[in-house]
Amino acid sequence: MADSDPFDDSEDIFQVGNIFSNRELVRVGHVPELDRVVGRNEEVREVGAALGPAIHGGPPETTIIYGKTGTGKSLVSRCVTREARKRAAENAVDLEHAYVDCSDYQTEAKASREMARQLFDNVVDDLDDHVREETSIPRIGISAADYRDITWELLEETDADAFVVILDEIDKLSDDELLRSLSRARESGKIDTHIGIICISNKIEYRERLNERVDSSLQDNELVFDPYDAGQLRNILENRRDAFVEGVLGESVIPRTAALAAREHGDARKAVDTFYEAGRLAEKQGSDEVTEEHVDAAIQRAEVNRFEKLVKGQTPHVRLILRSLALLTKSEDREQFRTAGIYDIYTRIAEKEATDPLSYDRVSRLLKEQSFLGITESEHTGGGQGEGSYLEHRLLRDPEIVLEALEEAE
Ligand SMILES: Nc1ncnc2c1ncn2[C@@H]1O[C@H](COP(=O)(O)OP(=O)(O)OP(=O)(O)O)[C@@H](O)[C@H]1O
Ligand SMILES: [Mg+2]
Repeated sequence: MADSDPFDDSEDIFQVGNIFSNRELVRVGHVPELDRVVGRNEEVREVGAALGPAIHGGPPETTIIYGKTGTGKSLVSRCVTREARKRAAENAVDLEHAYVDCSDYQTEAKASREMARQLFDNVVDDLDDHVREETSIPRIGISAADYRDITWELLEETDADAFVVILDEIDKLSDDELLRSLSRARESGKIDTHIGIICISNKIEYRERLNERVDSSLQDNELVFDPYDAGQLRNILENRRDAFVEGVLGESVIPRTAALAAREHGDARKAVDTFYEAGRLAEKQGSDEVTEEHVDAAIQRAEVNRFEKLVKGQTPHVRLILRSLALLTKSEDREQFRTAGIYDIYTRIAEKEATDPLSYDRVSRLLKEQSFLGITESEHTGGGQGEGSYLEHRLLRDPEIVLEALEEAE
């Protein structure tokens, strides 16, 4: 009987290897403390200056933050606000806050509700029993304005000196009413609390829209967060070195992860993620060291995953067309291919897979569509003598990655 048991006693199926000592530090979603925020001193100072007056009971200034994804906008805003609350409390000033991620709460009512809910959670211990019991924040059935009234009531009830609202991903919000009413609540006599707003967006195009629609008073503090350079990314990763068991990180792991990330995007989220994935690969292989090969493999893995998601939503024929282009790119010494060449390979693969190939025109059109999706690029090239111009297509990613992703998407 014993030999039908697939696990022997010495095997621990929950074994995690000996790579991480504090995995949490390198997981996405982890919000580090202010002292782990590095390379954003200037930005931290500016957000600090905007909230500064509130720490002494005065009015905080409204701030708008723009910057590409992964540049620390949400992180800096949250950490500085958290710090501001602590400092205000030391001065016996009551500074409250709410963090609303508008990509999760896109309508005015949902965002307003979330603001009220967060404020309620933050002040619940300070409320009189009867207020706590009487306050309800229904999920549905009341208007955005009603949710805001609940917010004002809570602020009055707790006698808050200041209220800082972070509207993250504000470009996702369907209109500007919440922003407008927040910026006017005090002057319209609804509350005595000073209100500060931190608006965050990774779409610089949003700026114009915001400028058009909202008071110029909102444009006081505009901050732009730049992508991180290699040095900053290195510091960010160094600061989380203690996620790993001492001595397991190969010497070049951090510099390489940082250099590649700086070159490609300057996105700290992605860099931290690569750092973690490299460790996970080492762990999976039962290795006791994380090397730069793990870093490269982690990056490749991430690209395959991203591309896989993109092609999963495509029809089988589009996948065959992409496969044809990837095979051509891999086997020949050039990057650009005419529709006819791609069509030729495509029909052969389709036949091999026993599917009827689409018409030439259809394939031609699909190829153009892919260039809209950013998977391929199409370009008109002048032909030789007497030939008209024709369209050439180029794959925008490494063919190996495309082929691997296509295989996994099947
Ligand atoms: N200066 C930093 N120091 C330490 N970690 C950082 C820093 N900047 C970013 N990170 C890490 O990267 C993650 C992403 O940063 P953050 O959420 O602030 O990006 P973002 O600019 O808000 O991007 P998005 O526009 O996609 O929302 C953070 O959770 C954190 O782990
Ligand atoms: Mg963010």
